[in-house]
Amino acid sequence: EKTGRLIIVAYRLPFKIVREDEHITLFQNSGGLVSAVLSLVGDGGYASFYAQDKIQWIGYTDNNPEELEGQALENESFRAHPVFIPDDINENYYEGFCNDLIWPLFHYFPSLAHFHDRYFQAYKEANELFFNKVAEVIRPGDVVWVQDYQLMLLPGMLRDKFPHNKIGFFFHIPFPSYELFRLLPVTWRTALIEGIIGADVVGFHTNDYVEYFLKAVRMVSGYGNKLHYINLSNRIVKVDSFPISIDFKKFDGAYNEPEIKEARELARDTLKEKIIFSVDRLDYSKGILHRLSGFERFLQQHQEWHERVVFVMVVVPSRDSIGQYQQMKSEIDQTVGRINSNYGSINWQPILYQYRSMSYAELLGMYTASDVALITPVRDGMNLVCKEYVASRNDNGGVLILSEMAGAAAELGEAIIINPLDNQGIADGIIKALEMPPEEQQKRMEAMRERIKEYDVFAWTNDFFTQMTMLEQEHDKLR
Ligand code: UDP
Ligand code: G6P
Repeated sequence: EKTGRLIIVAYRLPFKIVREDEHITLFQNSGGLVSAVLSLVGDGGYASFYAQDKIQWIGYTDNNPEELEGQALENESFRAHPVFIPDDINENYYEGFCNDLIWPLFHYFPSLAHFHDRYFQAYKEANELFFNKVAEVIRPGDVVWVQDYQLMLLPGMLRDKFPHNKIGFFFHIPFPSYELFRLLPVTWRTALIEGIIGADVVGFHTNDYVEYFLKAVRMVSGYGNKLHYINLSNRIVKVDSFPISIDFKKFDGAYNEPEIKEARELARDTLKEKIIFSVDRLDYSKGILHRLSGFERFLQQHQEWHERVVFVMVVVPSRDSIGQYQQMKSEIDQTVGRINSNYGSINWQPILYQYRSMSYAELLGMYTASDVALITPVRDGMNLVCKEYVASRNDNGGVLILSEMAGAAAELGEAIIINPLDNQGIADGIIKALEMPPEEQQKRMEAMRERIKEYDVFAWTNDFFTQMTMLEQEHDKLR
């Protein structure tokens, strides 16, 4: 009988908790990690692996402890355990080590990365705060699934104190080539690698990230591997790729929901032109400025499309306490203003730009109303937006333009694949998409939809948990 529970540890709880008087309201936090892992909650698919108890989710919240006192932070399928991080630590941890060093470095922006001892110190302290919370919650037999780059030290900390619990680790961003990883000071590199291999199963989105990680393990700690099994003296670690995905059925089914139909019709009635759509968090890794240059090139070269096409660009606020992000925000504002004033007319604005988050209905309304999705990250671990776009096209319509630098490009070869740094390539991609005959759109869309349907987010978790179970058997063989 399965008695162990599933404990998820991520930097954030899946919801922002807003308290007014006695009342608590939950707003889903943005980003691919939360979208994917939250699909698990309530599905019960994990129940074939673990006890049918609620999922325990440990994560940071910026509420004051007093604010949440006495509040039951749970629903029928999961229970939240908030971690409180003092502001001075969080500043050097989240804004510092995580997002002023690891994020830019691992997304191939080494020149944006800053190395400060106080960052690493805070990273250790914060990982300990998460460790303390796990220690409060964990029971024998529980499985702990640690998520992402904010918690690389945690698997190692857990392994030392809870040698008998199974621990998984999943990395949601690219793991970079060794030439980038080695820019970290030796002690930091070693701590990160040793921390991660505290887990039994370590997952990445693509085979490339797996290879880069295994090379880093070899160079930093000296451990080789056989077919992705790292043999340590007392246990083995399995490293593998598990391309994260989405709840295909949910997005596919949305097409005919009344609320989504209404949102789609509203978009189509309001915008008479062909619609190009993009949505991403404010982030330099998303290639927003390059996308704008590509779109501008298209406007320059294709007079015939003026007043016949509109680019709806939604940027979701993110990390706006960090200098790099603020600066980029004003560059985007300026660029959009410049393009609109150069090319617009009394009846037409080429770019409809919004800086805000979207509701589910608005998002699905735009996915299903738009003729083209223009997704051009300069580097992206996976990118779920493009998978969501494809899955929501129950009509088999729409064209996806996708950067070759997104992890998802490995699975979506029927998209128009572009290099996000190549303005002309983007402009050509746009014209190709706008002029693509419906039969070809349909053929490409069907092929991509089939692939995502096959490997949805439930297949992703199923694969990960299957590896966790199989590893147990490997351990028995080795013993
Ligand atoms: N998303 C969101 N808020 C919005 C619009 C979109 O949370 O206002 C979701 C979107 O549906 C997708 C996720 O954010 O599931 C973005 O994931 P992706 O992997 O594309 O990028 P990430 O933000 O993780 O870098
Ligand atoms: C990406 C990362 C997540 C992160 C999310 C939102 O999806 O992989 O770990 O939570 O972005 O970013 P934020 O800094 O707001 O948590």
